[in-house]
Amino acid sequence: MNYIEKLIDISEGLTYSVKTYGCQMNVNDSMKIMAVMNECGFHYTESVYESNIAIINTCCVRENAENKVHGLVGNIKKLKESGRNKALIVLGCMMQQEGYAEEFMSRYSQVDAALGTSDSAKLPETIYKILTNSERAADLSSATKEIDENARPFRHYRISEFVTIMTGCNNFCTYCVVPYVRGRERSREPKDIIYEINELTAHGTREIVLLGQNVNSYGKGFDEKLDFSDLIQKISDETDVKRIRYMTSHPKDLSPKLIDTIAENPLVCKHIHLPVQSGSTKILKQMNRGYTKDDYLKLCDNLKSKVGDIILSTDIIVGFPGETDEDFKDTLDVVSRVQYGSAFMFKYSIRTGTKAASMADQVDEDIKSDRLQQLLTLQEKYTKKTAERYLDKTVEVLVESTHTEHRNVVGKTSQNLSVALESECQVQAGDLLNVKINEIKTHTLIGKII
Ligand code: 5AD
Ligand code: SF4
Repeated sequence: MNYIEKLIDISEGLTYSVKTYGCQMNVNDSMKIMAVMNECGFHYTESVYESNIAIINTCCVRENAENKVHGLVGNIKKLKESGRNKALIVLGCMMQQEGYAEEFMSRYSQVDAALGTSDSAKLPETIYKILTNSERAADLSSATKEIDENARPFRHYRISEFVTIMTGCNNFCTYCVVPYVRGRERSREPKDIIYEINELTAHGTREIVLLGQNVNSYGKGFDEKLDFSDLIQKISDETDVKRIRYMTSHPKDLSPKLIDTIAENPLVCKHIHLPVQSGSTKILKQMNRGYTKDDYLKLCDNLKSKVGDIILSTDIIVGFPGETDEDFKDTLDVVSRVQYGSAFMFKYSIRTGTKAASMADQVDEDIKSDRLQQLLTLQEKYTKKTAERYLDKTVEVLVESTHTEHRNVVGKTSQNLSVALESECQVQAGDLLNVKINEIKTHTLIGKII
């Protein structure tokens, strides 16, 4: 009897929850966890506090993501004492840091097991041992090595679904902990990706978002020569998907071939997430990003002129060590020149083990907060301006849901802007509609079908 079968015998009436922190990659890992837990016979519940088995999938990219996990684990202690919680498992990036898991488990006696990223296959054995012998363990032995093709994510078969194409990162940006916790770049075989997409579209999915820490380095290390543009072409040829999105693109690896693909392939959405991180060439060098301010601006100009109606979004860090007012002005300048549709903006957070953690000239917290505020205000102006560009225009909308709390029909444009219909209409999720925009409300375009 394997551990899944053993658990089916004892899981009757037991509930589980999965709390996820961090990026889409973690969300995808949590879906794999759900698939395994359902197979073992446990019932899903949303509430961590009501579940018998609580699983926390962690993120360590910034300090505040870690603080949230400490808070939640602290709160679960009482549930453990009351007997409701029978197993608390903490896994993912935070545990993957050198020596972290053992220390975490000795600090929190309520934690029964610590596992790594992509460790869903280990859950049945781990949980069985906790439930039957109260065995506590930290096991980070197999994580980050291979992509486990047997671990399929649980799917809601929404109109838009995420599909992982590669994981890990070789870039070692000096502020970033990801290469240490997610390991080196590994790409999934195209046949496995195509199989997964065909399975999704057969169940109603219309749009896929291809996920990877750096999708532009997809295919490195394959015997057959096949890069990210080739993968997009293959997906267009061999599946019925109606729209293709992807994240994240590293500016240093965005090839002219890929720009042509974005421009020419009608299935590829006209939106690109292109993290700049800083506008200062000096800081970019310190960050080990591999491009200058000028390179980045030229790349954006090139995308805009070749692709036409494209919207760019970005990630920006303020207060990287050594960032002066002049450097920060360069960041503001890039934001004003590129005019992003949206941006994720962060205060630099020291990550143990990274190069930047030991750099001199760490920036004061007050200065970081002030710069972040300035940046948020500036970006808000361009987010609004981007949406307003579509007033009185007709856009193509993929309907994602027909019943939401506030509106009847909600979908997205190719450029990733949200659109709602102003009145009730007979449409279905998955429909592609032409909508004339006549109003903008808090960044949502509102219009009617034409
Ligand atoms: N501090 C602040 N932001 C960070 N990011 C990555 N590491 C750090 C850090 N140490 C941001 C980057 C990245 C995004 C996912 O998180 O902007 O693109
Ligand atoms: Fe982190 Fe840089 Fe890799 Fe992105 S490219 S995951 S920021 S090291």
